[in-house]
Amino acid sequence: MTRVFSGIQPSGELHIGNLLGALVNWNKMQDDYDAVFCVVDLHALTLRQDPEVLRKNTIALAQLLMAVGIDPERSVLFVQSQVPQHPQLAWLMECTVSYGELSRMTAFKDKSTRDSTDFVSAGLFTYPALQAADILLYDTDVVPVGDDQRQHIEITRDIAERFNSRYGETFVIPEHRIPPAGARVMDLQHPDRKMSKSEGESPGTVFVLEDLKKVEKKFKRAVTDSDMEVRYDIEAKPGVSNLLSILSACTGTAPEELAAEYEQYGPLKGDTAEAVIEVLKPIQARFEELAADPAETERLLKVGADKAEAIAADVLARAKRNVGLLG
Ligand code: TRP
Repeated sequence: MTRVFSGIQPSGELHIGNLLGALVNWNKMQDDYDAVFCVVDLHALTLRQDPEVLRKNTIALAQLLMAVGIDPERSVLFVQSQVPQHPQLAWLMECTVSYGELSRMTAFKDKSTRDSTDFVSAGLFTYPALQAADILLYDTDVVPVGDDQRQHIEITRDIAERFNSRYGETFVIPEHRIPPAGARVMDLQHPDRKMSKSEGESPGTVFVLEDLKKVEKKFKRAVTDSDMEVRYDIEAKPGVSNLLSILSACTGTAPEELAAEYEQYGPLKGDTAEAVIEVLKPIQARFEELAADPAETERLLKVGADKAEAIAADVLARAKRNVGLLG
């Protein structure tokens, strides 16, 4: 069966952009693929973390993934740091990628020059080598991640090809799969930029675990425009198009088709809020249940890590042998 692998960082709260853009898609893929999903806590360490907060975020993210529908029986769900092959293979990756290639990564350039970054760790620089290890350790065919990860997948493919040509067939070359359209969720206040975990009060970001009354308010206050026509046109009408995209992602109806059903912004905002709330309600309820028993989550994650390690150990052994390390 075709294998998919994806990873998500346990930093900050999950928002509906993550949910509708990535997780709903992961959830569906479980039916047709051999799916491996990873909470990448080692990647989170590339920026400074409070230990207690990191531990809590890691468990909460795993619970949220399960609440969304990731089923630890059907898929492999695990935490990166519990499978030691990840940092081990990452070293081989670091020795197969060049300083120049890593220097050209836009994610590194962005993060290392941000005003809020007062310490640029070496891990932030070698981040793509660890990501390549994550993916290649599972003989992954398909990586379902957003367009922002394009460069990271490209460099993973380059590393795998270089390794294979230097040391013989070792790794499967993975493909990038961008989630279907309609899943592009923009900030409700600044519809020209992606919804993100901004600091402090974030009127443009709707969190998966947010109070549902607040969710409604945020949609009611969403930025639209002044010409009062409901039309799906991302360039000319980014705010309205964003609402239509979100409504579309929740209902499965195409945004153009939805646009025809509305004359005014008010009802569009109301219906979008309602549709999002309907999606969030059962997720929040399930999360509450799971959050009440963190020991059970930790047990499930251990089982997941054992399953992951069984695959990763074979692939690491293959890579070590081919590169000339003693087994
Ligand atoms: N870099 C990814 C992100 O920020 C997270 C990630 C780490 C990942 N390892 C991965 C995604 C492996 C897919 C596959 O979203």
